[in-house]
Amino acid sequence: MKTLGTLAAVMLLGLMGLSSAPGAEPIKLRFSHVVAPDTPKGKGAEEFRRLATLYTNGKVEVEVYPSSKLYRDLEELEALQLGAVEMVAPSLAKFGPLGAKEFELFDLPYLFSDRAALRAVTQGPIGKALLQGLESKGIRGLAFWDNGFKLMSASRPLRGPEDLAGLRMRIQPSRVLQAQMRALGVVPQVIPLPEVRQALQMEMIDGTENPPSNMLVQRLHDVQSHATISNHGYLGYAVIVNKAFWDGLPSDVRRALERAMDEATAYTNAVAEADNERALTIMRAAGQTQFHQQTAAERDAWIAALEPVYADVAARIGWDRIEAIRSAVTRATQ
Ligand code: LMR
Repeated sequence: MKTLGTLAAVMLLGLMGLSSAPGAEPIKLRFSHVVAPDTPKGKGAEEFRRLATLYTNGKVEVEVYPSSKLYRDLEELEALQLGAVEMVAPSLAKFGPLGAKEFELFDLPYLFSDRAALRAVTQGPIGKALLQGLESKGIRGLAFWDNGFKLMSASRPLRGPEDLAGLRMRIQPSRVLQAQMRALGVVPQVIPLPEVRQALQMEMIDGTENPPSNMLVQRLHDVQSHATISNHGYLGYAVIVNKAFWDGLPSDVRRALERAMDEATAYTNAVAEADNERALTIMRAAGQTQFHQQTAAERDAWIAALEPVYADVAARIGWDRIEAIRSAVTRATQ
């Protein structure tokens, strides 16, 4: 039996947010995502789970739900806001439909030439402002996680932009990706990633765009005869939590989770780069898909064809924002 003194000390510690009572139930943190465990995001979620247990001494128990076991694409954002899950990591393309239109910048074609250019945005004032902008939606943004740069795959060779005309291509739910495909004469179709393989097999669509890691894990190379390594766009994630849940955590627990997230972010980004390189090697060796490395001249032609996408996005987020991003990116790559 606890003495009054011990009880008072436990209550005081609880009030100070420093500790939970011995034997208290762990705080449950449900992390839902839409891809398989053996993807960069899936591995990052597992690493965060491991580190969160370690750094909170088991006060937080992270439950990871991969492969849309709980929620699909846009549903997961709604579930987070409603508090049905505590953490999700949607791709940056999926924030526009939530009303966070500034996130559309991440889908702009050929904006980021490499990861250094991307970091200038995600790790600088622009990235910070983007995450802060989510607070009014009941969301706290914790980190940006990489997947990688996208290739375009289809049932025929894709060299010049004219080769895409008339194709039906799967996209994520994003107005920018819709504009991108329309600028190439493509008919865009929004389909959740786990359903894309079947849609290709049934010839409901002709192609899609993905970083190599997602293409391999979904086994899309079995059903796509051609792919062009165009690196025309980037696919990454924002790891976000329900703000009320986060603000209600004891401060020592929150600090421990922040540490776990920082380390899980570095881990995920390293894994993403290696996984994408490995995925390309594996798919090339498998031989079902013919991979074409886009030439400089082809790249210039795609950039010219995709120019209208910038005006489309500027109409929503303003040219001044796009220019600010372009100059941050240019400074980083000089
Ligand atoms: C997609 O829908 O293609 C991606 O957002 C999936 C993911 O989360 O990597």
